[in-house]
Amino acid sequence: MTVPDLSRRVKPAVQVASSTDEFARLASDVVTRQLGARPDSALAFPTGATPLPLYAELARRCAESALSFSQVHSFNLDEYVGLDPEHRASYHAYMLEHFFSKVDIDIARVQLPNGLASDLDGECARYERAIASVGGLDLAVVGLGVNGHLGFNEPGTAFDVRTHVTFLAPETIDHNVRYFGDRARVPRQAITMGIATIFDARRVLLLASGEAKAAAVRAALEGPVSIDVPASVLQAHPHVSAVLDRAASALLERLVR
Ligand code: PGA
Repeated sequence: MTVPDLSRRVKPAVQVASSTDEFARLASDVVTRQLGARPDSALAFPTGATPLPLYAELARRCAESALSFSQVHSFNLDEYVGLDPEHRASYHAYMLEHFFSKVDIDIARVQLPNGLASDLDGECARYERAIASVGGLDLAVVGLGVNGHLGFNEPGTAFDVRTHVTFLAPETIDHNVRYFGDRARVPRQAITMGIATIFDARRVLLLASGEAKAAAVRAALEGPVSIDVPASVLQAHPHVSAVLDRAASALLERLVR
């Protein structure tokens, strides 16, 4: 169990894409390289708008037999509490629609947190055990919240926390209203891998696109390492790459010129 060593600072490899196609290609190349090195890798996957081009490109490569997910162990970063997996806005439904139904992944090797579990803390412990049972995460693909969150680790979450039940920050609820149509319908709680779970991955790929993420990208990659910006912990991770589009990279001063 790693407690992130914050005294270490490693420069992340940042790539900036000039188009959505290039964004998809650069992000997919990281996953492709990982599966080339280890076809049975354990991967963590995010949801949201950001990874959609990645999933489309991975599906395309899989259809062309350039890539296979048949041996991959897949773990989602998070899932809402209390939402039926059949609900359109659940992350179960999202992953099935955008990725699992489009690639040759073995559904028996796919895991998402069960937000309907009667014992939510027990479910969190089970999820950690499931990740450990395949030897830990080889590559965690993560998106970035407008507030710097990773998974549903909202600002203020301790860096040494593992999979847990959490409350969504107000800005995250606002960001996700579009999937529910009405703020009142957005679940208030989720199960999320903790920062320590994500940090323990051997590699991390951070994805961010759009102007709305520019300040969070700057804070995460160039700002102080602080629990106020959960993604800033990645500055202490030895193997982080970031794929950004131009808009999301616009406020970086040191890493991109
Ligand atoms: P988005 O969500 O890709 O829909 O912006 C990312 C996140 O909140 O982590």
